[in-house]
Amino acid sequence: MFKIGVMASGGGSNFKAIIDRIGEGDLEAQCKFLITNNAGCGAVGHATTYGIPVYHISGKTHPDQAAYEAALLEVLDKYDVDLLILAGYMKVLPVSLLKRMPDRILNIHPSLLPKFGGRGFWGLHVHEAVLAAHEKESGPTVHLVSEEVDAGRILGQRTVPVLDGDTPAELQARVLEQEHDLFWRVIKEYGENLVSSRA
Ligand code: GAR
Repeated sequence: MFKIGVMASGGGSNFKAIIDRIGEGDLEAQCKFLITNNAGCGAVGHATTYGIPVYHISGKTHPDQAAYEAALLEVLDKYDVDLLILAGYMKVLPVSLLKRMPDRILNIHPSLLPKFGGRGFWGLHVHEAVLAAHEKESGPTVHLVSEEVDAGRILGQRTVPVLDGDTPAELQARVLEQEHDLFWRVIKEYGENLVSSRA
């Protein structure tokens, strides 16, 4: 059993897929908190349903950068989680947080990295770029978070076809379906290895 914390900004379908798997016993982990930069996002509703504490921490709640970083670190210190999971978190993490959890922060990105990654590539923009480049395939990547955006070690990928006439939203839905099945499996394998390497 290992402990995770999750950060999310949007609809929260990846967050829900993870906590559903925990609830069903497929993923033997505890989710200790949700941090969001967007108090009105769908992820907050899912956390509430499962009784998971929610922390709203953003540039608005903490306009001072040092106070913002201290607030994030305070949550990490309080729960001492093994892994921090970025499930549709649209902000770049401060370096102080990366240094606190080296090789223990996992992100899901909706393209086949290293293609279509880096600053500016997030959410629907990624799928728009994939279609504009006339790619034949796309799919999600789970990777470790490092200082260079979307460039950390790749832990898992899935491939889906790009179909003639796809809209960005249609491609997004096809990729998202794979995200939901991929992310929890990678978290499980990575988390279990981490715990057993400590034993
Ligand atoms: C997902 O497609 C995720 O891969 C992407 O945002 C979506 C969030 O959906 N993440 C990024 O673009 C990060 N750069 P969700 O809120 O329904 O999980």
